[in-house]
Amino acid sequence: MALIAPSMLACDFARLGEEMRDVTAAGADWIHLDVMDGHFVPNITFGPDVIRAMRPHTDRTFDVHLMIEPVEPYIEAFAHAGADVITVQAEATRHLDRCLQLIRSLGKKAGVALNPATHESALAYVLDKVDLILAMTVNPGFGGQAFIADVLPKLHRLRAMIGERPIHLEIDGGVNPQTGALCAAAGATVLVAGSAVFRGGAEGYRANIAALRAAAERPAAAA
Ligand code: DX5
Ligand code: ZN
Repeated sequence: MALIAPSMLACDFARLGEEMRDVTAAGADWIHLDVMDGHFVPNITFGPDVIRAMRPHTDRTFDVHLMIEPVEPYIEAFAHAGADVITVQAEATRHLDRCLQLIRSLGKKAGVALNPATHESALAYVLDKVDLILAMTVNPGFGGQAFIADVLPKLHRLRAMIGERPIHLEIDGGVNPQTGALCAAAGATVLVAGSAVFRGGAEGYRANIAALRAAAERPAAAA
């Protein structure tokens, strides 16, 4: 059964706390928080202080996706701000192993994200230090982009690499019920969705999350 992780990138930033409560009440399993620095990606979002301010508004897992370079100097700040899962982009560090060890030493789950063009071999020697693998299905930086289907074969290969290890396989970018079903069929266990969740007002969020969940649970039919 896949977890649904709404990305707050698509919410109304002027009402972050309220949006967080609404999406929690609507059935979000995790909350995905996209941190962008205007350097690793061509957009800027928010940092640890904003995450700390959001923390009291939900009891859900904070899934923090760091699209920042350098990343290592900031990991501790995100851990203290209330992150539960901290994911770094493989392309943003020369010392992936060290980053993962640091995240776990802070008592957090460690994730690695791969851009669409990054080969899964980047993970070959860190699999036992990883709690989550995030396969980007858009080029990171913006919400509302089209799903890149070329990533699907990589999902299948990542699934095989993971084997029986307790590692989540997460996908992020252009996820809607159709593309989410394809990814669930390929082995994804966490679906991140921004624009497919935050539409139709607070009343719409529940139906949007339910549609993603239903698609993920019937991957063969929807695919
Ligand atoms: C993109 C972010 C995504 C983004 C997804 O760089 O990592 O989490 O918010 O947004 P949608 O679901 O609209 O593609
Ligand atoms: Zn993300």
